[in-house]
Formats: sequence, C-alpha cells, structure tokens
Amino acid sequence: MSQPSLTLGAFGNGCVGQGFLELLNANGGTAAHVKHVCVKERGRERSIGNATLTYEALDILGDDQVRAIVELTNDPVLALDVIKHALNTGRNAITASKRVVAENLAELIALQRTTGQSLLYEASCAASIPVLRALETHFSGEEVLRIDGILNGTTNYILTKAQEEKISPAEALRQAQEAGFAEADPSSDLSGTDSRYKLVILIAHAFGTIVRPSSILCHGIEGLNAGDLAFGAPNGWSLRLIASAYRSTDGLVAHVLPTFVRSNDAFAFVRNEYNAVRIEGANSGTHLLQGKGAGKLPTGLAVLSDVQQLIRGGGYGYAKVNEQAPVLSGGERRLEVYARIPATHQELLARFDAVRPIDDSKEFVRVTGTIVLDELRALLGEGRDGFQVIALPHLSAKC
Ligand SMILES: NC(=O)c1ccc[n+]([C@@H]2O[C@H](COP(=O)([O-])OP(=O)(O)OC[C@H]3O[C@@H](n4cnc5c(N)ncnc54)[C@H](OP(=O)(O)O)[C@@H]3O)[C@@H](O)[C@H]2O)c1
Repeated sequence: MSQPSLTLGAFGNGCVGQGFLELLNANGGTAAHVKHVCVKERGRERSIGNATLTYEALDILGDDQVRAIVELTNDPVLALDVIKHALNTGRNAITASKRVVAENLAELIALQRTTGQSLLYEASCAASIPVLRALETHFSGEEVLRIDGILNGTTNYILTKAQEEKISPAEALRQAQEAGFAEADPSSDLSGTDSRYKLVILIAHAFGTIVRPSSILCHGIEGLNAGDLAFGAPNGWSLRLIASAYRSTDGLVAHVLPTFVRSNDAFAFVRNEYNAVRIEGANSGTHLLQGKGAGKLPTGLAVLSDVQQLIRGGGYGYAKVNEQAPVLSGGERRLEVYARIPATHQELLARFDAVRPIDDSKEFVRVTGTIVLDELRALLGEGRDGFQVIALPHLSAKC
C-alpha cells in the first residue's frame, strides 16, 4: 500500500531551495510534496511547481497540514525561529544552516528530546557527503579517535588554484568569485568560521561532545601569501584548510588551521570545490568520504535525503551525547607549525619552541617550530597583521 505524501513547507528558494525543489519534483519515488514556499523578495520570478508562494512564515507555520518544514534561507534569526516553532508544534524540521545548528546545538538537541520531533541537517555539513548519516548509523557503535575534514569548497578552490597555477591567493579568490564558487563576501569561508561551524556539528555526532563554536581555535587563510604556499613546494606538500578533532590524553582537541599535507595524503587529491572527511575508528581503521561540499544540486540532494529519512521515520539518535563524551581539552597540546612573523614583532618568537629559521626579510621572519595550542590561540587573539601560521603534516596522516 503506498503511503500518503508528506506535506512540507519550505523556507527559502535560493541556490539550495531551488536545487531541492528541482530534485524533489524530478524524483517520483519521494512520497513528499511542498505545499508552500516562503521567500523574502516580492516580484522575483520563481519556478516552484505546484507549491503556493508566500512571504509570511505563518502561512506555513499555521497550516496544520504541513507536517515538516524545510528551512533553506540565509537568515539565521528566521531559521532558528521557524525550526523551534516547528518542533514545538509537533512537526519535524530540516535545515541547511550550519551556523544555526552549530550555535544552538545544545538547545536544539534538548528540544528534540522534549518534543519527540526530529531536526535533520545533513546539508549543513559538507553538503553532498552523507557524513552525519554515516556517523549516526555506521559509526554509532564505534569509538571515533579522530576526524579531519576539508569542509569548505571556496577555500579549497582558492588553495588548489593558487598552488597549481602559481597565482596569489588573492588572484585565486578573484577567479573563484568569477566562477561562482565564492560569495561576494567570502569572509566566513576565508576566516575558517564556516569550517568551524561544521566541525562543531561533526564533533557532536562523532564524539558526543557539544562545544560552542568560539571555543575552537580557528585560523583561516585570509592573510596567506604566495611565499607561505611556496614553503611546502620543495617537499611536495599541498596546503589545505583542515578542521580536526581528536582524542588525546588531555581530552578532545579541536582546531581549524591551514595545514600542509604530504603528497601521498588522500587530502592532497581533494581539489577545487570538493570536500572530504576522514574518520579514524578505534576498531575499524581509517575511512575517507569525499564529495561536493556546496552547490545547488549536491546540497539539494542532501536536503532531499533528509526528507526521505523523515519518511522512513526517525531523526538523529545522538547516541554519544551523554556524560561519557570527552571534554574539550584545555589546549595543552603542542603543534608543529610554519610561522611567518612580522619583523616588527620578533618578540613573538619566544612563544615558540624548537624554533628553526627559514629566512627573514625587511617585513617578515619565517620559522618552523612548535607551539602549545593555548599559546597559539592567545597569539591569534592579539590580532597582529602579517602573522600567519600553517600546521605541518601530522605524523599519522594517511589513507
Ligand atoms: N549554497 C550552498 O552551496 C550551500 C551549501 C550548504 C549549505 N548552505 C546553506 O543553505 C542555506 C541557504 O543557502 P543558499 O545558498 O540557498 O542561499 P541564497 O541563494 O542566498 O537563498 C536564500 C533564500 O532565503 C530566502 N530568505 C532570506 N531571508 C528570508 C526571510 N526572512 N523570509 C523568507 N525567506 C528568506 C531568500 O528569499 P529571496 O529569494 O526572496 O531573496 C532566498 O530565497 C544557508 O543556510 C547556507 O549556509 C548553502
């Protein structure tokens, strides 16, 4: 017997909203339909199939036939509001917003537990890569030791182009914007903030630890120059923006850092707008998931996949979110790094150990050395122009 079609209300009809609707309407096998689409700007031409267009959230939230909402706007205030409203009124919800999920994860998990409703957000984390589903199902009975990800397509595109075509990161950004891979305001991508939101989500599902985004050390690529990139070349190293979380004797260590990877590291082959996630299990070894981390149809597919999961029944189990979850470390861990230090601030060298000079100029001193994570966090917080750190390849990188 065929099941009744799930009635959805969609918020947003931009890049992801259009991709989702296109795939839903093309997929005769999905027992769901969108009854309303809520957008912001009046008078824009839209292709929304049989759905009704509205500019009022209440047209969706007040319709009892709507059993789940699909939140695909770029308005985090509206997004949190409609997600909470949906859960509180006995509906399930889906969102693509990493920011909303990462900044409100504890509250959103608690709300799901008290209401018995589900919030799914596969698209929020590496878009088309089904990593949350994998963590929730396959890895729910596995102790995850480490998770690393290239989680931002814009920065990976810039780093790949800059390195392979020997152009400056600024020129690579310009090309990425022209090709439609980078937004007009790419600051959240370049600063690593976008990757950090996704890391917060991965950490919850991989380790069960709920952390505030601001508690994770994050250094982006906005200050990177061609000389930094060139440092890896003689060793065949590629530069990637990597979000990492791993168990250590001090607890859970987490950071987002530009990182050199060796030429035989699987991450070296993750190029342009592609994303990848590497999961290391205590019993199962190393796994690599790779796919498109952004874009209309790849992201739309992740949303459609969440709709299908709702139809099958059941949201995330959050099996690891309990008192046994590891606590975020205080940051005593030491990292081996490349550092470019402004010549006017050579006193910063004293904060590194095992320092080995690379070269110096009128503008910069460049060294490799080790630094304690907390010290690095403090140094980055001092906001010195011209200071750039890149993590050196970590010993266990493989796969
Ligand atoms: N783009 C990607 O590749 C990608 C990948 C993963 C996750 N995401 C996430 O997916 C979400 C949507 O991204 P997007 O790229 O599709 O954004 P977008 O192209 O800028 O579209 C945003 C949509 O939200 C609507 N909107 C904004 N404020 C609204 C409001 N107050 N009420 C109703 N509708 C409102 C806009 O309406 P109008 O059409 O009227 O302007 C537009 O349709 C974001 O959370 C983003 O982080 C995007």
